[in-house]
Amino acid sequence: MSEANKKSAARRSSDFSRERRVPSLPEQSFFGAWFTSDRERDSIRNGGHSGSRPTFCSSSGRADPAAGSDFSEALIAGLSAPQKSIPSRFLYDAAGSALFEKITTLPEYYPTRTETEILRHQAEEIAAIVPDGAVLVEFGSGSSTKTELLLERMENLHAYVPIDISATALQDAKARIAERFPALRVMPIEADFAQPIAIPPEFSTRPLFGFFPGSTIGNLRPVDAVALLASMRRTLGPDAHLIIGADLKKNVRRLLAAYDDADGVTAAFNLNLLARANRELDANFKLDQFKHSATYDMRNGRIDMHLVSLREQWVDVGGRRFHFDAGEQIHTEHSHKYEIDGFHTLAGEAGWRPQVVWTDAEHLFSVHVLVADA
Ligand SMILES: C[S@@+](CC[C@H](N)C(=O)[O-])C[C@H]1O[C@@H](n2cnc3c(N)ncnc32)[C@H](O)[C@@H]1O
Repeated sequence: MSEANKKSAARRSSDFSRERRVPSLPEQSFFGAWFTSDRERDSIRNGGHSGSRPTFCSSSGRADPAAGSDFSEALIAGLSAPQKSIPSRFLYDAAGSALFEKITTLPEYYPTRTETEILRHQAEEIAAIVPDGAVLVEFGSGSSTKTELLLERMENLHAYVPIDISATALQDAKARIAERFPALRVMPIEADFAQPIAIPPEFSTRPLFGFFPGSTIGNLRPVDAVALLASMRRTLGPDAHLIIGADLKKNVRRLLAAYDDADGVTAAFNLNLLARANRELDANFKLDQFKHSATYDMRNGRIDMHLVSLREQWVDVGGRRFHFDAGEQIHTEHSHKYEIDGFHTLAGEAGWRPQVVWTDAEHLFSVHVLVADA
């Protein structure tokens, strides 16, 4: 990207003339349930595709049976397809979430460091956009570490609603945030954000302010990313804002290093999927017979993570047998990289208007403020 383009990356809403309407995506009805008493539990499970039954999130962080059956169904379906795959959301059990936190501290893994710095610099400006009495809703909140930078400045925030598929990540984050910001209501929701999210009705009259950092949007293919952003717009309601982080296209060597670090932490994170299947589904994957791989798909502008079978082998999962050829791959994660304009086009298709975008000096990462189209 040219210097002129880099400079124009941090610009105001008036610079963005393009406004595109969301195509007629099907409206989804809200379902799931919520609890209003924090005394009853630490977080709630918001019904997703695994069923609308709300369940308490175990304080021990043990996976509950509903999560297990969801993993089992997805794994068996994924291993039965001609191109074997496992959805990336299953990377984040307790062990996977802990490994991800380790990844965020690696020298090669620039996204967390860079996005954190952008947020640190812009926290005051972001806080100024948040209406008094608003509710901050974070999608894929993980450890909520970056969120603290915003919460420090959002003095008149009514509540914080972190949403994540990982019960342990939610519990740890809730404990830390509640201790640090005792006056703030923290109401975690354990849910798959790709499913409609039911925000507690007590917040229905309050402005909702969305936060989706970590470039988690990059884990979805563009068509699914548009559907997710449109679903978030419906969840957050009219006039909502969404602050979203998106990783940018860059030197391929730098990208590959971020997803295949020298210490093998990302490899352990990826292989944990198989370890999780052994723990939860009585599978018999031999971890030393698979290896982590990260490649860059230039045409689609994305990193693809795979687990590669090192030899011909059979694996049992939940009473089923799966054959692997030597060299056969299980796809485990996409991580799409964007140009600023391409990301704005995507957001526009989902009914979001770009208001501000910030990048770092090296143009590695972007943080966008989007406003819901009327
Ligand atoms: C790349 S990490 C980002 C974590 C944190 N937001 C950050 O910026 O460091 C992705 C987070 O999204 C969560 N996640 C992934 N897929 C999800 C899904 N389908 N629904 C809910 N949470 C999901 C993971 O558990 C994890 O905490």
